[in-house]
Amino acid sequence: MFQNIDLDTIDLLAPIPEGEPLRQYYYIAHLRKWVAEREAELGRKLTYQCRTFGCQMNAKDSEKFAGMLELMGFVASEEKIVDFVLYNTCTVRENANMKVYGHLGVLKTEKKKHPGMMIAICGCMMQEPDEVAKLKKTYRFLDIIFGTHNIFKFPELMYQRVQTGKMVVDVWNGTDMIVEDLPSERKFSFKCGINIAYGCNNFCSYCIVPYVRGRERSRKPEDIIREIKDVVADGVVEIMLLGQNVNSYGKTLENPISFADLLREVEKIEGLERIRFMTSHPKDLSDELIEVMAQSKKICRHFHLPLQSGSTRVLQDMNRRYTKERYLELVEKLRMAMPDIALTTDIIVGYPGETEEDFLDTMDVVDKADYDSAYTFIYSRRTGTPAAAREDQIPEDVVKDRFDRLLALVGEKSRERTDRFEGKTLPVLVEEKNSQLEGYVTGRLEYNTVVHLPGDESLIGKIVNVKLEEARGFYYMGKVEE
Ligand code: 5AD
Ligand code: SF4
Repeated sequence: MFQNIDLDTIDLLAPIPEGEPLRQYYYIAHLRKWVAEREAELGRKLTYQCRTFGCQMNAKDSEKFAGMLELMGFVASEEKIVDFVLYNTCTVRENANMKVYGHLGVLKTEKKKHPGMMIAICGCMMQEPDEVAKLKKTYRFLDIIFGTHNIFKFPELMYQRVQTGKMVVDVWNGTDMIVEDLPSERKFSFKCGINIAYGCNNFCSYCIVPYVRGRERSRKPEDIIREIKDVVADGVVEIMLLGQNVNSYGKTLENPISFADLLREVEKIEGLERIRFMTSHPKDLSDELIEVMAQSKKICRHFHLPLQSGSTRVLQDMNRRYTKERYLELVEKLRMAMPDIALTTDIIVGYPGETEEDFLDTMDVVDKADYDSAYTFIYSRRTGTPAAAREDQIPEDVVKDRFDRLLALVGEKSRERTDRFEGKTLPVLVEEKNSQLEGYVTGRLEYNTVVHLPGDESLIGKIVNVKLEEARGFYYMGKVEE
């Protein structure tokens, strides 16, 4: 494993390695020397912070950045002022971009007070040329700007910045590269995300992801299995397989393999207790996957199946390639195979041209599908996507009214669903100390529902049987059953 590479044995005077990830380990070794020198000058450790926006993919990427920074000698810090801060951005909706600009405004003042501070910005927002142009022009205090396709190159870019003292900008248009064996520093010791595929080929008409994350590329099954075995050996009991569309995993590999087959292999890994995955596109959800799930002892009975809209007309316009009826049929199939399954979804309200009738179709699906929870989003116009160019954008007040109605129905359904396990005793993976309630910890059922229970840090990372004493809408209050 490269993670165990002895950085001190890397010859800093040797020619720069051509292959990846060795080339980056070479730069990490250089930066380690630089960090040590700075530490000696300052008489303290250098600190870092990764501020992550957006989805699980970004969270996983940030663990890689943290791994690289720690190898360089930086230590994580929650302080307001740190020596190195990295913004891993999201651009799926407009408000994600706004948040980043808000933060950068504050950082500008901080950097003036602490000139040694370094700021890097990366992620999906950097794949938008207009945003990068704006940053280069008006945010000159930024040190490193890079995108989603070259995250592995972070040490090299940082080295360049240290050497030249100038802003480094490196954004690629796309890539077919997958660099394995990068270091990683997990946020949780007992659970982590595992990338299985990068990018997306679906081009839903509202979505910017295919433009900023590029074409779909699957990792080889053997690389995935090896990584999971490594993290399990290191104490991980729950993994989340990550891809924009996990159901199309493996189709373009030299030796094609289905997502269901991959799951069969993952299931065999000893010591692994829970398997989750995200996200499934309804158009590619196979019977084989449902069967594998139903037979599995490790795959959590939770399915996230984004609906987006309940109207067949809107779905067609969105390029989703399924109908309202087909979606409900899939829900039925999942419930037939696994009656206890928890379903969650994503819904967009106010897509261009959405009529009251279309919206009522969405409400109808929510009513019929009995979601345990749903992420509801107001349509956000993303420049460059086909839907953004449409003239029939929906007025704000209409969208707001629909959004509120949807939220009320989702909440009502969610409360009904949560009630179902009240009084039962079920396994809970304890994840963290409860930040609100002293003497409590928080965990999750395999159904992904949150449970708060009395306990201390010794329970973190353990799966314990918990009596779900009280259902409170979206979560439970419970107690460990002795
Ligand atoms: N506006 C609102 N929501 C969006 N999503 C993706 N693009 C947009 C957009 N332009 C939502 C979808 C997707 C989730 C991750 O984000 O519901 O499933
Ligand atoms: Fe976006 Fe559709 Fe791809 Fe999901 S499947 S990332 S919504 S384009």
